[in-house]
Amino acid sequence: MKKSFVLKGNICYSKNQKELYIIDGGYAVCVDGISKGVFPEMPEKYSNLPIKDCGNQLIIPGLVDLHVHAPQFPFRGLGMDMELLEWLETNTFPEESKYADLDYANRAYDLFVQDVLKGPNTRACIFATVHVPATELLMDKLEDSGLNTYVGKVNMDRNCPEYLREKDASVSAADTKKWIEGTIHKYDHTKPILTPRFIPSCTDELMKMLSEIQREYEIPVQSHLSENRKEIAWVQELCPYSRFYGDAYDKLGLFGGMKTPTLMAHCVYSSEEEIHLMKENGVYVVHCPQSNTNVSSGMAPVRQYLNEGIKVGLGSDVAGGGETSIFRAMADAIQVSKLRACCVDDSLEQLTVEEAFYLGTLGGGAFFGNVGSFAPGYEFDAVVLDDTNIPTTLELNTKQRLERLIYFSDDRNVISKYVNGRKLF
Ligand code: GUN
Ligand code: FE
Repeated sequence: MKKSFVLKGNICYSKNQKELYIIDGGYAVCVDGISKGVFPEMPEKYSNLPIKDCGNQLIIPGLVDLHVHAPQFPFRGLGMDMELLEWLETNTFPEESKYADLDYANRAYDLFVQDVLKGPNTRACIFATVHVPATELLMDKLEDSGLNTYVGKVNMDRNCPEYLREKDASVSAADTKKWIEGTIHKYDHTKPILTPRFIPSCTDELMKMLSEIQREYEIPVQSHLSENRKEIAWVQELCPYSRFYGDAYDKLGLFGGMKTPTLMAHCVYSSEEEIHLMKENGVYVVHCPQSNTNVSSGMAPVRQYLNEGIKVGLGSDVAGGGETSIFRAMADAIQVSKLRACCVDDSLEQLTVEEAFYLGTLGGGAFFGNVGSFAPGYEFDAVVLDDTNIPTTLELNTKQRLERLIYFSDDRNVISKYVNGRKLF
């Protein structure tokens, strides 16, 4: 049952891409899981609701991770001297093959879910593996956790070791259909998302079948795009009919423009034409700055995407990225944008704290609907933060305290968490 209550504290959320809305000692009202807004005084109309007084703590919307690989959680921080394609072959594929074993999946997915649960994220779009039983196990665990997620059974029928490759396009598509039918109505806050890994690991035949499945079930799509220079050259060889990487997805029927949105992670090297097509088709760019640094992919031009009105959110991309917290992705997004501005292209200004916070809340939240804000009508996802473990002699205002919570990205600061009005802890 959804709850109705009021949280009192120092409330902070994005008014828009550039500005924060801060009310110290304010009241955030939740009725049946939906925000009724934030007020400087307790409104008479809601005086019958229970009030939780968070004192001097901060209250922010839950953070949104638009791209994370749950089965890669065990090898975070390993193999980071390799570039993307070598890292996939050496670390990722051998590890993902272990999820054929449900006992292993059970242990590993417990670690992943517990980690996300204790941090500031309330929503996530998650890659699992090709294995249907382990993917369903992950979905069961996420549903029990109270988090709100999309989970994808991965599709791969070429260019990966035989032990992980699906038998052929028909088997991959049939397994996917069965999995969607078994999960699409099974849960309250865990949903399937179509997940072709990326063009190099899916034949055209499979992609076309997945496009038909997408149209039949109207579920969203997630994949990878223009992450690494060698990967992009490879896609051109594999799909000689395509004008650019995103055009290959588009010609195969999996690049937005549908009733449900498409997420494309990375977009480090998107051309003008690719950017134009993403905008036209409403494709989300998922910026994964830590992963782009760890596996030497590059520095995505996020400022350009924002200037051009593309939808953008943040992703941890574990295990390309090491930490699930989207606070860390916010800090990395700012830092990478500074390096890009000073070393590559000074026409693209660095991101501000306000912009990074927007990307990790409202920007990514839009994928889930009205999510990422306390404005009236938004789903009430809230995180209560205590920063007393970050010592200082200074008197800081709420914006400054938020800035430090972002830069230090420490799950110990998360005191309690609500998703759509459900209290997780
Ligand atoms: N491209 C295809 N698969 C992957 C993956 O697992 N991680 C990253 N970062 N890029 C990919
Ligand atoms: Fe990824």
